[in-house]
Amino acid sequence: MSTGMSLFVTAGTLLSLLFFFLLLHFNRKVENPGETTGHDYDGIMEYDNPLPSWWYWGFVLTIVFGLGYLAYYPGLGNFEGLGQWSQVSQFEGDRQRAEEKYGPLFSQYRAMTLDELGATPAAVKMGRRLFINNCSVCHGATATGSFGFPNLTDEEWLWGREDEDIVATISAGRTGAMIAWGDILGSEGVVDVADYVQHLAGREVPEASAARGETTFITYCTACHGADGKGQKVFGAPDLTNEIWLYGNSAGRIQHVIRNGRAGQMPAFAGKLGEDKIHILAAYIKHLGSSSLPVP
Ligand code: HEC
Ligand code: HEC
Repeated sequence: MSTGMSLFVTAGTLLSLLFFFLLLHFNRKVENPGETTGHDYDGIMEYDNPLPSWWYWGFVLTIVFGLGYLAYYPGLGNFEGLGQWSQVSQFEGDRQRAEEKYGPLFSQYRAMTLDELGATPAAVKMGRRLFINNCSVCHGATATGSFGFPNLTDEEWLWGREDEDIVATISAGRTGAMIAWGDILGSEGVVDVADYVQHLAGREVPEASAARGETTFITYCTACHGADGKGQKVFGAPDLTNEIWLYGNSAGRIQHVIRNGRAGQMPAFAGKLGEDKIHILAAYIKHLGSSSLPVP
């Protein structure tokens, strides 16, 4: 906060404490003349007695406590407080203690391979918990994904299913880069190549447009999606020959991706989770769909 704002907050806080003290002090009555306030209800009279002194001193004490609190903790503008306390240092302290306590639980699995971990129920359970906390917001609690967020339980892997691929995906993140082709191909061209893509996926499409689309595909698309359209993990380019669609399966949706492009973003987790947790998570992810998959 700026110096002016800091002074304003400091002065406002201290002056209001002073104001309350003065208000209390000058309204204090010590003598007890035994007068009534004049209020009388059914013969019950209200006396104008002074505040009990323990009450008065109780108020004074809260003000003194407040001053002490403001001296110790950062409450006055930019003043950091004599105690050097901050939210960040408290958070870091908590985190370090948690790391010391739980770190060994995670690091014990470091020496095992992902396949060994996938067959270790305690590690799978741990992976599941890490997944729920860190990944389910995007990939869903059951990891089946949704529009734009890949299903991690199916057999299609944009960025590869080798151990080091999965670990790299989680550690460093990934960005898919599908260029927008609308301006280059024109709207007819987009429809044609979308027809060819659907033909690749095994759908019935008009032959003429698919044939035109094939030429376009060979010219512009095979660099990333591969000559056979089965995708290439170096680019994160999806396999277009199956019915697994990241951005919707209708003809309109497929045309939309081709026309406007896409840049799906998987965030990097190396800084947040560290290698030990990522190792466990990678094992969990790798074996999510394993009931239907041959484990290499
Ligand atoms: C520079 C590499 C690159 C080129 C060239 C490229 N693509 Fe893509 N394409 C990608 C990537 C990467 C994705 C995934 C985007 C994402 O993850 O957000 C993708 C996604 C798609 C999708 C969506 C698939 C789905 O599952 O929803 C379609 C359809 C597609 N591309 C068709 C094409 C066509 C047709 C061409 C040629 C006109 C083409 N692509 C050229 C990289 C490329
Ligand atoms: C902010 C949303 C978001 C979060 C959180 C997130 N992901 Fe992702 N993840 C994505 C997106 C989007 C992609 C697809 C990137 C692309 O289009 O190429 C992806 C891709 C992946 C892939 C690659 C899938 C493939 O087919 O190759 C894996 C593995 C993965 N995420 C695992 C995780 C794990 C594990 C976590 C938790 C630590 C996580 N993700 C958290 C959005 C997210």
